[in-house]
Amino acid sequence: MKAKITLLPGDGIGPEVVAEARKVLDVIASKFNHTFTFSEQLAGGIAIDQTGNPLPEETIGACLESDAVLLGAVGGPKWSDPTAKVRPEQGLLQLRKSLNAFANLRPVKVFDALADASPLKAERVQGVDIMFVRELTGGIYFGQPSGREMVPEGRSGHDTMRYNEMEIRRVLKVAFELAHGRRRKVTSVDKANVLATMRVWREVAHEVAAEYPDIEYEDVLVDAMAMYLINRPADFDVVVTGNMFGDILSDEASMITGSLGMLPSAALGEAGSIGLYEPIHGSAPDIAGKGIANPLATILSAAMMLRWSFKLHEEAEAVETAVSHILAAGHRTRDIAYHGENPIGTVEMGDLVAQALSER
Ligand code: IPM
Ligand code: MG
Repeated sequence: MKAKITLLPGDGIGPEVVAEARKVLDVIASKFNHTFTFSEQLAGGIAIDQTGNPLPEETIGACLESDAVLLGAVGGPKWSDPTAKVRPEQGLLQLRKSLNAFANLRPVKVFDALADASPLKAERVQGVDIMFVRELTGGIYFGQPSGREMVPEGRSGHDTMRYNEMEIRRVLKVAFELAHGRRRKVTSVDKANVLATMRVWREVAHEVAAEYPDIEYEDVLVDAMAMYLINRPADFDVVVTGNMFGDILSDEASMITGSLGMLPSAALGEAGSIGLYEPIHGSAPDIAGKGIANPLATILSAAMMLRWSFKLHEEAEAVETAVSHILAAGHRTRDIAYHGENPIGTVEMGDLVAQALSER
């Protein structure tokens, strides 16, 4: 097949890890006879520096003309002054919205070779395989009004949490459809005991659940879920929730695996839309430019692109298997070198995956 891929390296370690994912995609292309063409565009802080806009028109245009988008990371201390008018993160939110990428898939799975990386006891972590489905284009991230003003008591700020039933239904459906191909269980996380938005969420969730009688369903309040993720993480299969709760819980869940540098994500819209793929980790400004970042989360995000945007299942699995093999052989970047293994760099790790694929 032929596919156009927009690369948004972004800030911090973004460019380093995206370069390795591109390398892996190039090997897949030659190995399996595909043609991937890449267009690299500005996004995030670097785009603010060069154009004043975290998501320039040219970048949106290129993304909308492509078949899929791979993003490294955006943000960093240089752009994080709370009074700044433009922030790198606004670019990312606008991109998700422009692509209508409302369903954010964040798989949390423990790699066998890294099983003892978790800060949790090994027996709790065994068998953990959760698919988070985070609503990504609504909720308090986008609700209006939002802003700040002066009140008699001083400075004041406000945001709005809002969900309509169309937004809730479509993301719940994604969760149930995914559960079909997995362990057939959906957990919907809300705060229906306090928030009106979340009572609508729960009502609609129940209606969708009724359409899938063969799938086990439960609702869990978000505070309890924060606890259960530590207490009994292996009990969950597909976990679906709103934008902000999903942001928080997916970071929490990443720690079950002990390796934030390993976790990929996919942001998808309606069938046939342009997918946005990115590692879950951020721009890690403290290690940027040092050549030591772990590129595997971005490489695994590229694998998700192969699977979800291009339906290249064999190719996606080839990448995932190559990563497993490299880990099983004991190769570690610094962030996952728990046993004093000699850590390798970003480029070396990318090269090893590429080599494992070409020798396949
Ligand atoms: C994430 C990040 C983003 C979010 C930031 C960078 C805007 O934390 O993808 O989880 O809050 O969605
Ligand atoms: Mg986050």
